[in-house]
Amino acid sequence: MLNKVIIKNKINPFKKTILISGDKSLSIRWVLFSSLADGVSKSKNLLMSQDVFAAIKAVKKLGIKVKIKNKICEIYGRGINGYNYKKNIIINAENSGTLGRLILGLLINSTYPIKLIGDKSLSKRDFKRISDPLSKFGAKFKLKNKKNLPLIIYGSKKLNPIKYFEKKGSAQCKSAVIFAGMRTEGITIIRAKKSRNHTELLSKSLKLPILVKEKKNYDEIKIKKVKKINILNYNIPSDISSSAFFIVLTALSKNSEIIIKNVNINKSRIGIITILKKMGVEIIFQNQRIYKGEKIANIKVKSPKSLKPINCPSNLNSSAIDEFLIIFLVAAKANGVSVFKNLNELNQKESPRLKWGEKILKNIGIKTIISNGTIKIFGNPNITLNKKIIIKNYLKDHRVFMTSVIAALSFGGIWHIHDKDSIKTSFPDFLKILFKLKKNG
Ligand code: S3P
Repeated sequence: MLNKVIIKNKINPFKKTILISGDKSLSIRWVLFSSLADGVSKSKNLLMSQDVFAAIKAVKKLGIKVKIKNKICEIYGRGINGYNYKKNIIINAENSGTLGRLILGLLINSTYPIKLIGDKSLSKRDFKRISDPLSKFGAKFKLKNKKNLPLIIYGSKKLNPIKYFEKKGSAQCKSAVIFAGMRTEGITIIRAKKSRNHTELLSKSLKLPILVKEKKNYDEIKIKKVKKINILNYNIPSDISSSAFFIVLTALSKNSEIIIKNVNINKSRIGIITILKKMGVEIIFQNQRIYKGEKIANIKVKSPKSLKPINCPSNLNSSAIDEFLIIFLVAAKANGVSVFKNLNELNQKESPRLKWGEKILKNIGIKTIISNGTIKIFGNPNITLNKKIIIKNYLKDHRVFMTSVIAALSFGGIWHIHDKDSIKTSFPDFLKILFKLKKNG
């Protein structure tokens, strides 16, 4: 089957209510917490994507039974010490940084060495950011090139609590250390730059001995050894990062409107909403409610008359970290020059995304200047394209694929976008939902 899409036409105006798949960060965390619970946990609306399946395969390798039936997933936890650490275990995190990094925190007490591998993209990413703090607990690591996968973790039964200053705003680093702290006698203390806080909220809803003090620019987290995790039945809300593609499609279309139901609007995830509102997009949250500590709402978006450029405050970076590629498309259509700063972390993702942002914008005729993690985007409200654009060799980064599709539907031109199967990692239903929008306007 052809593993690319060809798009030749802009999308017609639409007015629709849609439902997006489950949140990836929460889905992976639910699998990991449930794998250590005392008994059977059930989830509804778990994201059925390769990253989440990789998490399920990983806990199965550790002796945990998992059943999926009628979209309900059941995990048969065997308690906090229930992993069966056999010899020669290899865990494949595939494309998932979240899985690869978080699970290392849980493996810190493994009896035998465990090998962690990943796909081509994950094998280029930095794991030193995890092995450094976890080594301080007492685990040992062997990494390819001292920072990459494959790696081997040598767990320890004599772990010491650590003090850790998380400066990148990385929820993956923070969560790996929380998990390791949960396995360690004494008090582990983290001072973390703000980042998504799903691990903390799940811990709170499970009443684990993890205390969070929110300060203005950082959080202080104190973690004690966890003796028992109760089962966790969870109805996973929809993913704001997947919703982002439809929010932006509406922002770039004429006379269109969309309602996206049941989305997780956790404050640490909605940088994109703040940014787009500042740029003149009308977005409202309807029917706001709290579910197990997470804030949920329906998101309503209307096409704006015009778009303003933004000088984006970098304290929004962490809460919009996965959305910058798609936000750049809005900046491309804004009436003036937008500036986004301190974005070197983007080049640490599934592909070097700052570079890919620049490439996509160049393809649509938008000038950019990049220097030292800052990108300036010279917007043009009247982009019209009729040339052929080919997008390929981007390490199968799902967000490069989806951003390119939205660009094609918004700006015109003839697009050949390769590696369609990249969406399987985070949002397998992306094209199906788009197709529904395209049909009967
Ligand atoms: C994630 C954290 C972010 C994000 C990733 C998911 C998580 O990564 O980019 O897609 O679920 O914790 P960093 O923690 O590396 O910023």
